[in-house]
Amino acid sequence: MTDAAETATLAHAAILAAVHATAFPPHERWGIDAISLQLALPGVFGFLHPRGGMLLARVTADEAEILTLAVEPRARRRGVGTTLLTKALAEAHRRGARAVLLEVSVGNTPARVLYDRAGFVEVGRRPRYYADGSDAMILRAVLPC
Ligand SMILES: CC(C)(COP(=O)(O)OP(=O)(O)OC[C@H]1O[C@@H](n2cnc3c(N)ncnc32)[C@H](O)[C@@H]1OP(=O)(O)O)[C@@H](O)C(=O)NCCC(=O)NCCS
Repeated sequence: MTDAAETATLAHAAILAAVHATAFPPHERWGIDAISLQLALPGVFGFLHPRGGMLLARVTADEAEILTLAVEPRARRRGVGTTLLTKALAEAHRRGARAVLLEVSVGNTPARVLYDRAGFVEVGRRPRYYADGSDAMILRAVLPC
């Protein structure tokens, strides 16, 4: 396997779930079924990074959404998350999206810095959205025409 992220298919559902489980607390984990169901939906695509990262996203008309992004703790701060996000933005653009949305907890500094560096800006909030009572920030990035 090369060091580059590859397209994820239904055949990768188990490894995607395994990576996701390392990155999120138990109540936020997406299991094999949840990931398989997502990947089977129209407009959903994913990437798997061989160093231990995964991302799922969805394109609807001219807008995309990052559904989830996870990097194994042992693989962090080495550009895996940035590589996955960059690939997802390019794929969303290729599929016709002109903007990308996502949700992130106000307290999730690593993800907020990552998204900020990728050009995302806050466009809204969902108060007490997460189980720990924290707000979700809604972030949006505009893709080039
Ligand atoms: C957020 C996450 C995906 C980042 O993955 P990653 O592979 O470590 O990200 P990168 O190595 O590409 O980091 C890119 C930049 O983000 C910022 N960043 C990443 N982790 C950070 C941290 N712990 N503290 C501060 N900034 C951080 C840095 O600016 C970093 O660049 P640098 O290492 O050159 O300083 C990873 O921490 C993760 O899986 N977290 C748990 C799940 C999660 O929160 N997913 C996002 C939900 S919206």
